[in-house]
Amino acid sequence: MLEIKNISKSFNEGTENEAVIFSDFSLHINKGECTGILGANGCGKSTLFNIISGVLIPEKGNVILNGKNINKLKENERARFIGRVHQNPSMGVSPSLTILENISLSNKKCRKFTLRGLIKKSSIEQYREILRTLDLGLENKLDTEVKFLSGGQRQSLSLLMATLNKPELLLLDEHTAALDPKTSRLVMEKTQELIKTQSITTMMISHNIKDTIKYSDRIVMLNKGEVVLDVRNKDITEKELLEVYNSRNYGSFSEAV
Ligand SMILES: Nc1ncnc2c1ncn2[C@@H]1O[C@H](COP(=O)(O)OP(=O)(O)OP(=O)(O)O)[C@@H](O)[C@H]1O
Ligand SMILES: [Mg+2]
Repeated sequence: MLEIKNISKSFNEGTENEAVIFSDFSLHINKGECTGILGANGCGKSTLFNIISGVLIPEKGNVILNGKNINKLKENERARFIGRVHQNPSMGVSPSLTILENISLSNKKCRKFTLRGLIKKSSIEQYREILRTLDLGLENKLDTEVKFLSGGQRQSLSLLMATLNKPELLLLDEHTAALDPKTSRLVMEKTQELIKTQSITTMMISHNIKDTIKYSDRIVMLNKGEVVLDVRNKDITEKELLEVYNSRNYGSFSEAV
């Protein structure tokens, strides 16, 4: 489904600050599964997402999605079939636009459009229905600017927007990390509902072992640009996963559970 093939990526090449993040890195992601990505701060998880979504171009290697080599496509071109939700609740939305404008924009990202034709009256009821599924009352706030929403409401909206056109791949980069425990749980439950009902192939970066084991079908752990663990979630317990993590990351994971 997604083939990351022999990727190499360094930063500040040829300087004293050169950092090799990936050297001949490969990973296969299965269709319709949620793959949890674990690894210590700075090990290259977001860099991997940046390479997949076209923010960064690797020095070597290929990214192949459903048989298409997408290496030459720009970030905005890839956004037609790759959805992404970031850690920061402000990144997936346009804060000074209303909920209705945001959701209309995300629905139009596949097509050319004019601003005047952006919001179709006939679509408003449909958006209201979709928003109602979040159970956050956002369907009654269509004209509210997104900057007035809480972090949890914004992340839920980002998630909904990222999955609106059923992406071929969904990238979740610590998308609940900035939320309080209760809101984080609600957003995770909503995430699972959205990806499972539509069978969306998902990669989910998290520092939360409990969530990773609960919501992923498969868990991949990275360390120094390599896969150090690749396991089905049903084949490992939380305790075992934490032990592997600590042994691989020098005990740096105390806040994870
Ligand atoms: N654009 C960039 N220019 C230079 N260095 C970068 C750039 N992006 C990332 N890095 C460096 O690459 C390394 C990997 O960063 P990355 O953001 O991928 O880590 P991460 O695994 O997502 O960490 P975290 O868990 O903290 O989010 C870090 O040392 C980071 O400083
Ligand atoms: Mg990161």
